[in-house]
Amino acid sequence: MMRAVVLKGFGGVDMMSVAEVPMAAVKRSTDVLIKVMAAGVNRADLSQRRGHYPPPPGATDVMGLEVAGVVAQVGSGVDSSIKEGDNVMALLPGGGYAEYAVAQMGCVMPMPQGYSFTDAAAVPETFITAWQILNRHGKVKPRQRVLIHAGASGIGSACAQITEKYFKATAITTSSEAKLDVCKGYASVTLSRTKDEAGWAFAPKVKKLFGEESIHVIVDPVFGGTYLSENSQLLAPNGHLVVVAFMGGSLVQMNALPFFRENAQITFTKLRCRSDQYKTTLVESFEQEIVPYLNARVISPVINRTFTLEEVGAAHTYIEENRGYGKVVLVLADAPQRPIL
Ligand SMILES: NC(=O)c1ccc[n+]([C@@H]2O[C@H](COP(=O)([O-])OP(=O)(O)OC[C@H]3O[C@@H](n4cnc5c(N)ncnc54)[C@H](OP(=O)(O)O)[C@@H]3O)[C@@H](O)[C@H]2O)c1
Repeated sequence: MMRAVVLKGFGGVDMMSVAEVPMAAVKRSTDVLIKVMAAGVNRADLSQRRGHYPPPPGATDVMGLEVAGVVAQVGSGVDSSIKEGDNVMALLPGGGYAEYAVAQMGCVMPMPQGYSFTDAAAVPETFITAWQILNRHGKVKPRQRVLIHAGASGIGSACAQITEKYFKATAITTSSEAKLDVCKGYASVTLSRTKDEAGWAFAPKVKKLFGEESIHVIVDPVFGGTYLSENSQLLAPNGHLVVVAFMGGSLVQMNALPFFRENAQITFTKLRCRSDQYKTTLVESFEQEIVPYLNARVISPVINRTFTLEEVGAAHTYIEENRGYGKVVLVLADAPQRPIL
């Protein structure tokens, strides 16, 4: 048996508790069992808790999409590069809020050099999603302009850093006023999402700085309200809009002609439900292209707060109330938090 966060039903944070559940186990030859030292908390977990983001078929219904820990067991077909006792980080379809979690071998990576378990647990879901958005979907090029909504979020902070440091492009973040200083730590341009008198959150501010149709790639986890319409005013010819969530709602009524006029490419994407093969290929390119920047600390996770497994309710509330920035991480009680050298 192991301790894990379980749900009594879908709903508020009171639905979660820590309980003894059957131990996570290696079932497929390519499975890797990890003793979890720290687990990243993602806004998607809050949606799962409310019953709006079910795990993909075959995945555990325990929440948690990213962990760092120690390899406890490997399946018979696992590559010799992953061994018992290795310190690793892993992208999961679920199961991170527990003492043990199972990842498929293609989603397990060595921890970046000098990282603590807490630092490493903030990397996989967040930075691999950001890499997928910008590289696969956005196809960002040097010197382009990338508009990143919710710029102070985990995903926003990862997207902005990869945009500036890897792609040598300009990151323009939008966030609430209180988080502008956070965004200034990694983005060239930081804009408040406070609405102007006409009700616009960001388009007039972007136009004033760069002109109309001036943004090559937009990363949008908001979509609803005025966001889609404002995005349409900004996208450059052949620009890419990548929609990753609907924090502002999914119903919109607007004039889509500006998108049509500019031959816009609009992509809706979610990483969790992709096939093992897709994730393996994505992780390989991530390790090759972005991990060297993480090793050198040119790009780093922005850790905002840690909570224990028993404090998972407080962690979710903190995120739900938009009080946080960067990453929130659950630290399991016996995890040594000094950097692994
Ligand atoms: N599709 C995928 O594969 C994928 C993968 C990972 C995450 N995501 C999505 O990406 C988003 C960010 O995830 P995260 O875990 O990084 O989030 P997070 O750290 O919890 O940050 C979310 C931030 O978004 C801002 N926000 C909240 N409601 C908003 C609204 N209605 N309009 C504008 N801004 C709003 C708030 O910041 P301010 O106070 O600065 O506004 C909030 O702190 C989530 O929606 C998540 O579901 C998608």
